[in-house]
Amino acid sequence: MASTGKTLGVTAIVIVGLGLIAGGITWAVLATTRSEAPPPEILPLDWWQHCVLYQIYPRSFKDSDGDGIGDLKGIISELEHFVDAGVDAIWMSPIFESPMVDFGYDISNFYRIHHEYGTMEDFMELLTRSHELGIKVLLDFVPNHASNESEYFIKSEAREPGYEDFFIWADGLEDPNNPNNTLPPSNWVSQFGGSAWEWSTKRQQYYLHQFAIQQADFNFRNQAVRDEMFNIMKYWLDRGADGFRVDALPYLIEADPADHGGRYPDDPLSGRVEFEPHQLGYTIPLYTKDLIELYDVVYEWREFVDKYLEENGGDTRVLFSEGYANVTMTMLYYGTGDVGGARGVRGAHFPFNFDFITDLSARSGARDFAYVVLRWLTYMPHGATPNWVFGNHDNNRMPTRFRERMVDGLNSLSMLLPGVTVTYQGEEIGMKDGYVSWEDTVDVEACNRGDENTYHLYSRDPARTPFHWNSSTNAGFSSANRTWLPVADDYQELNLALQKEAERSHYKVYQALTALKKRQKSLSHGEYSIRALSDSTLCLVRYLRTYDTIVLLFNVADNSDTVDLSRVAQLKLPATVYVSSVHSSRREGDTINGENITLSAGEAIVLRSEPVS
Ligand code: FRU
Ligand code: MG
Ligand code: CA
Repeated sequence: MASTGKTLGVTAIVIVGLGLIAGGITWAVLATTRSEAPPPEILPLDWWQHCVLYQIYPRSFKDSDGDGIGDLKGIISELEHFVDAGVDAIWMSPIFESPMVDFGYDISNFYRIHHEYGTMEDFMELLTRSHELGIKVLLDFVPNHASNESEYFIKSEAREPGYEDFFIWADGLEDPNNPNNTLPPSNWVSQFGGSAWEWSTKRQQYYLHQFAIQQADFNFRNQAVRDEMFNIMKYWLDRGADGFRVDALPYLIEADPADHGGRYPDDPLSGRVEFEPHQLGYTIPLYTKDLIELYDVVYEWREFVDKYLEENGGDTRVLFSEGYANVTMTMLYYGTGDVGGARGVRGAHFPFNFDFITDLSARSGARDFAYVVLRWLTYMPHGATPNWVFGNHDNNRMPTRFRERMVDGLNSLSMLLPGVTVTYQGEEIGMKDGYVSWEDTVDVEACNRGDENTYHLYSRDPARTPFHWNSSTNAGFSSANRTWLPVADDYQELNLALQKEAERSHYKVYQALTALKKRQKSLSHGEYSIRALSDSTLCLVRYLRTYDTIVLLFNVADNSDTVDLSRVAQLKLPATVYVSSVHSSRREGDTINGENITLSAGEAIVLRSEPVS
């Protein structure tokens, strides 16, 4: 305090002195400079820190050869779509050799392209063409498990030297009722239902699979496995991949029998009587999920990609980690201490933020939205980059979980919040879940956990139906008679071509938002304020001195709502409408003068106003 006072005193003396020497004009200039701080410093951001990241589900994006299955050539043929939409980076669900039990998440060869998707040449072309267009390409890295048809597993099952401990093998427990039988080593339940242990007649032991029986869990306590993961990453980075989305991390490591008297400890029972022992939910995954040791593996991977960059140059290679966990365990993926600073360790560039999927729905009010957004921003380590995910291949599509009228408001939120916007294929046009009958259901989770009456509770197929390009057969996705999943029946009213032609459409709103995101310094570098102006209306403000203030007003409720804009401190009226949701009566360029404003159900408007001072 004392030293601040002294400095001010000195400054004042200098100003007075100059004023005396050079006269009134100098005095006036100095006085202004003194009361107005210099414009804020705009530090350059790395490519991934403020990007629009788009998830492609390759099987359903675009089919080039008429077999009813999307492929790499199909993606290549539509790369312009990303430029047109304003997307900066794409990540693709797995494209590697696979028996397709879990549609590519059961990889049999991590170094090869799956034949239905194309060849290595196709992949190289995809990379080259994308890079020419300025689009980064991320691959899906699936470290937790490999297909039981992989060479790793075949060798491990045969106890080949070097591979014996590649997976989690264990003897069965004695069956008190039958001396000729054994029981699984523990009560662990698979994510897809049933015991997480499967008997191998060949090896006369059980192996662990946290997902499908055909997805055997690697043993991450084995250094050879860890080394192989580096080899896989290096292989694809050498080919030019810009980084990885990393799959299913909470399940990477399980309890070590060495810490539990030589046996695998049972997970505690949840006490939830609605579940039977073979059903997910019967136990609490204490020994099978979020184990603290797994984070060190992630930190090692970060060290690896950072070193790769150091040695090879080019742009930053990134790791975006996937996992559903509570906020504390999720934040650990970022690393600990000040991210990017000298203290602590660095982890994933970011863990995907699934809060909009897990914690918000059509039933949420504006206060819930504000609270959930602020929770992430509050818990995130200093200096880290936030991100916003609204859907993916594992969950019902965004307009289905929320309401159709909310599509533009939700896309506005994901685009205007600080950090990275993540778009799941179809969200840019507001695609809803497709209907998939039990006969057409192919998802292993639905088939394992459900039956004819309950499959829809688990099925991920509705979020995976093919992309709607246009109104022609199969929505322009494929020329096949039968596509791998049916095309949703609303494709003739809801598709990209129509939305490009229409004067107002979800797609046009999306384009306006990506353009704004790229241009506005208050979005890339500004402060944020997010709060509920009422039970229904959410207000997000992004502001940075000397730059336009951007305000999103979004009525998340199913009825209209009137709010008082004088409560938004940073908003200077009149303000101009930059973009509005398709059902809004407001248009680009409209002026908002009054302090009271009424928003219809689901209406969202993005306003531009004078900079804050
Ligand atoms: C995300 C996911 C699922 C897949 C599982 C196992 O949880 O990508 O789609 O079934 O991980 O790889
Ligand atoms: Mg095909
Ligand atoms: Ca595991």
